[in-house]
Amino acid sequence: MKRIEAIIKPEKMEQLRLALEEVGYPGLMITKIDGHGKQKGVTRQWRGREYKIDLLPKAKVEVIVPDKDVKKIVKAIVDNVHTGEVGDGKIFVSDVINAVRIRTSEEGDAALL
Ligand SMILES: Nc1ncnc2c1ncn2[C@@H]1O[C@H](COP(=O)(O)OP(=O)(O)OP(=O)(O)O)[C@@H](O)[C@H]1O
Ligand SMILES: [Mg+2]
Repeated sequence: MKRIEAIIKPEKMEQLRLALEEVGYPGLMITKIDGHGKQKGVTRQWRGREYKIDLLPKAKVEVIVPDKDVKKIVKAIVDNVHTGEVGDGKIFVSDVINAVRIRTSEEGDAALL
């Protein structure tokens, strides 16, 4: 099992949520976070003055999926949120040791879907 964490623009969250539901992933977690990447925030103008915003609001979408589905999900994420602009986001994939559906005690892949 893998954990796929996608850090994306908040305005893309709803579209991605629906797309994941469509490819068969009803289970997900969404967290509102603040962060920065390579550009370390943005510089804005306000009343003729420049000021810097170090942290920008982002959405973290997290799905735990069977190994065989990682490619499909990563592609679905990229296809739905890519604009080509800086700040499009990032996807992290990591190992998950186990999952348990508490209601049934099912474990592993069976607990996911
Ligand atoms: N190495 C990292 N570790 C943890 N979080 C990261 C990392 N890189 C990016 N993030 C998170 O992803 C968000 C979006 O990053 P962003 O898309 O701006 O990455 P980038 O590397 O700057 O790429 P780009 O040049 O396309 O903007 C950041 O606000 C931050 O929350
Ligand atoms: Mg960036």
